[in-house]
Amino acid sequence: MKELRIAIIGCGMISHRHMTVIQNLNKRGHNLKVVAAAEIDKEKLLAWGKQYGIAEENLYQDFREMLKRDDIDEVEVCVHNNLHTSVATAVMAAGFPCYSEKPMAASYADAKILYDAQKKYGQKLAIQISSIYNPQTRIAKKMIAEGKLGEIYHVRSVGHRRQGRPGYDMPFFSRDFIDPNVGVHGPLFDLGIYHIAQMLYVLGMPELESVYGFQSSRYWTHPAIDKITNRTAPVEDLGVGMARFKGDICMDIYEDWAIHMEDIGCTFIAGSLGGLKFTDVDQTGGPMAVPEGGQIMGGGDLQKPRLTYYGINEDNQLFTTQLDCALTDTYGLQESLIHPELDLYNDNQLQWYSYLRGILTDETRIDSPYIAMQTALLSEGVVLSNELGRSVTVDEIKKMAKSIAIRDQETPFGTIHYDFDEYKPE
Ligand SMILES: NC(=O)c1ccc[n+]([C@@H]2O[C@H](COP(=O)([O-])OP(=O)(O)OC[C@H]3O[C@@H](n4cnc5c(N)ncnc54)[C@H](O)[C@@H]3O)[C@@H](O)[C@H]2O)c1
Repeated sequence: MKELRIAIIGCGMISHRHMTVIQNLNKRGHNLKVVAAAEIDKEKLLAWGKQYGIAEENLYQDFREMLKRDDIDEVEVCVHNNLHTSVATAVMAAGFPCYSEKPMAASYADAKILYDAQKKYGQKLAIQISSIYNPQTRIAKKMIAEGKLGEIYHVRSVGHRRQGRPGYDMPFFSRDFIDPNVGVHGPLFDLGIYHIAQMLYVLGMPELESVYGFQSSRYWTHPAIDKITNRTAPVEDLGVGMARFKGDICMDIYEDWAIHMEDIGCTFIAGSLGGLKFTDVDQTGGPMAVPEGGQIMGGGDLQKPRLTYYGINEDNQLFTTQLDCALTDTYGLQESLIHPELDLYNDNQLQWYSYLRGILTDETRIDSPYIAMQTALLSEGVVLSNELGRSVTVDEIKKMAKSIAIRDQETPFGTIHYDFDEYKPE
C-alpha cells in the first residue's frame, strides 16, 4: 500500500486519539505517516513532536506555513468547534483533502459553509462521527431498511452525564469546551451530535419539518453548585428538543452534561412491528482508538455497542432478543474475520483513508459531511426555538441561521484571519 502522508492541526487531547488510530492501523499494514503538525501553543507543539518522533522542522505554530508544503496528502483538523469551519475551509482552499473533528461546526450556517467548500475547492471532506461507524449502527440500519421494525414513528436520542462538564467537572478536558466563543454550546453539540447523527443515519436521513427546543444552564448557575465561574454558566448544561420529520416521524432529544438524576434511559427507535434499544452508543472511536495496553483517551472505557430488539411474532407472542454487537472484547471481531471489507465501515479514520486511496467512492463511503450538516440543522433548530420560545420550521432555521465561526483568531504569534464564504440561505 502506498504511503499516505498526513498533517495534523491542533495538538490537543483528540489529536492523540488520531495518532493512536494511525499507530494501530499501521500495525495492520496501512502505511500511514504523520509528516507534520501545527499547534499555536509552542510548548505543547514541541512536546507533541517529541512524543511522536516528529522533527522540529516539521512542527509549525502557524498552520498556514505548514499548508505551503507539497508533500502532504491530507490534513486532520483537531481544533475546537467554532474553529472547524475556519480551519477546515482554509485547508481545502490550500488544496488538501480534510478530515475534521465533530461537531461539524457550532452553527448550521457554518456547517453549510464547510459542506459547500467541498465543491468550491474540489476537495474531499469527512467529519468524525464515531457512532455511525460500527456494527450496532450497521445492524440497526439494515433491520430498518428491511422493514423488520415496520413503520417507524418515534425515535429517542439520549445522552447523559450526572456531573461531567468537560473542562470543569472533568478538568482533563480543555476549557475550550465551555468557552462561549470556542466550544459555543453545551451537551447538544458535544455528545448530542453522536446520538442525533446515528438516528438520522439509521432512519435513512428523514426530511426535517420542524423543531421545538429548550436549553438550560440552571444546574450550573446555582450558587451551591457553581463555586468557580460565579454563576455565569458559560454554556448550557442541558439541551432537549422534539423534532418532526416528513412521514409522521418524531424524535425527542435529551442531552445533559450535569443533572441530579441517575438513569435517564437510552436511545431507542419505535416502529409498528418492533423496537430497538441502543446501549453504549460509540462515542470513543472503537477498538482502533485504544492505545497498546492503555486506557482510551478522554472517553473513559471502550464502549461496546449493543442492541435489544423488541417484537411480536405471528402467534402474537412478544419477544425480546439481544443482538450482540460485541461478540468479543474487540466488538465486531467475528464479523470482520468473515467479512474483512466491513472493517472499512468500523472506523472513521480507516474509512477516510480508504476513501482517499480510492478503495471507497462517493457512493460506497458513508457521507459524513451530509449527515453532520443535517445534524447541525436539527441542533440549530433547538437553539433557535429556545431563543424564540416557540417551535421553528426548517425553512425558518435555514433563513435565520447565522455564521458564528471565528474569522479572526488571536494567537501567541499574532492574529490569524480566516477568509471563508458568507452563509447563503437556500
Ligand atoms: N477530547 C475529546 O475526548 C474529544 C472527543 C471527540 C471529539 N473531540 C473534538 O475535538 C475538538 C478538539 O477537542 P480537544 O479536546 O482535542 O481540545 P484541545 O483544546 O485539547 O485541543 C485543541 C488544540 O487546538 C489548538 N489550536 C487552536 N487553534 C489552533 C490553530 N489555529 N492552529 C493550530 N492549533 C490550534 C489549541 O491550542 C489546542 O491545543 C473539539 O471540537 C471536540 O469536540 C474531542
